[in-house]
Amino acid sequence: MIDFGVGILGTGKYLPDRILTNSDLEKMVDTSDEWIVRRTGMKKRHLLDDNMPSYMMGAEAARLAIEDAGLAPGDIDLIIVSTEVPDYLSPSMACLIQNSINAENAVAFDVNAACSGFVYAVTIARQFIQTGYYRHVLVVANEGLSRVVDWESRNTCVLFGDAAGAVVLGRVSREYGIKETYLASFGNLGHNLTIPCCYISEEDRQKRSPGKERTLWQDGSEVFAFAVRAMAESIKTVIDKAGITIEDVDLIIPHQANLRIINGAAKRLGIDDEKLSVILHETGNISSASVPVALDIENKNRRLKNGDTVVLVAFGGGLTCGSVVLTWGK
Ligand code: UT7
Repeated sequence: MIDFGVGILGTGKYLPDRILTNSDLEKMVDTSDEWIVRRTGMKKRHLLDDNMPSYMMGAEAARLAIEDAGLAPGDIDLIIVSTEVPDYLSPSMACLIQNSINAENAVAFDVNAACSGFVYAVTIARQFIQTGYYRHVLVVANEGLSRVVDWESRNTCVLFGDAAGAVVLGRVSREYGIKETYLASFGNLGHNLTIPCCYISEEDRQKRSPGKERTLWQDGSEVFAFAVRAMAESIKTVIDKAGITIEDVDLIIPHQANLRIINGAAKRLGIDDEKLSVILHETGNISSASVPVALDIENKNRRLKNGDTVVLVAFGGGLTCGSVVLTWGK
């Protein structure tokens, strides 16, 4: 009989110092602060320096999460890193971070579910802890999207930023922790958001400017329509599975791709604005790091109280989506 819950023991984040504002972007492409704020809600984003490897962000977020959990790197049994822009295809980001933080007892591997990756990784981590296989799992979402953005394309370059967020998961009292999870994948819609890597098709070339074959391309309106639907359905499905209603939820921490997507999904479900955690005006779209960075901000600002019901929800490339409902507390 399992007599414990699986919950979040500590959180951390890292945002690079370099900031790119909407007015900086006005000097780079044919755009305006007014358009970006009205169509996305974004005001600034943080960018990695060219000479900094992306995994350094994840290592710093990881150190802070381990400290917040009251643990040492040697206590970590497993590291799962969510990333869609790894520094290397091998070694994995998880092994790079393991080495950087001296987590010598940990097994380490990456998952790629694009912007949904943190929710996927937390779901995997939960299984390992629930079965008793591992005790402490570090989940890091490490995303350096600026490395794959076409900085001459106003359709995408205004949207993305760099960041990492991390959590340590472990055993908590039975009344706390993760209550339910939900994951879904739609490979038939994958062509709507692509970042070529080791293979570039003719279709990939046609969608991009010459010399920009390895940049992010998306059909913004197709992804937008999917996103509103997927976010609303993911929230509804996970709370139904947990046997609770939207009124029981204290805080929703959504993927931060566009304020209109968050508001559109919330409107479908009748969710009040004050129950939404929104950080995208400060960060832009930081892919799978959105949810753990927002979670860390809410945790450190003490907005989360013991016993609060929290929903984490994300969608993204793949296409993918997923959600987690948990009771905050240890
Ligand atoms: O996490 C990854 C998942 N990705 C997403 O969630 C993205 C989902 N999609 C979106 O958030 C929105 O579709 C965008 C923000 C990408 C685009 O917003 P939109 O309101 O759907 O704009 P649109 O693509 O329909 O374009 C409207 C107009 C176009 O001009 P015309 O053809 O009407 O003359 C665009 O060329 O806005 C133009 N436009 C811009 N204008 C100024 C597109 N980007 C810009 C820009 N500045 N940066």
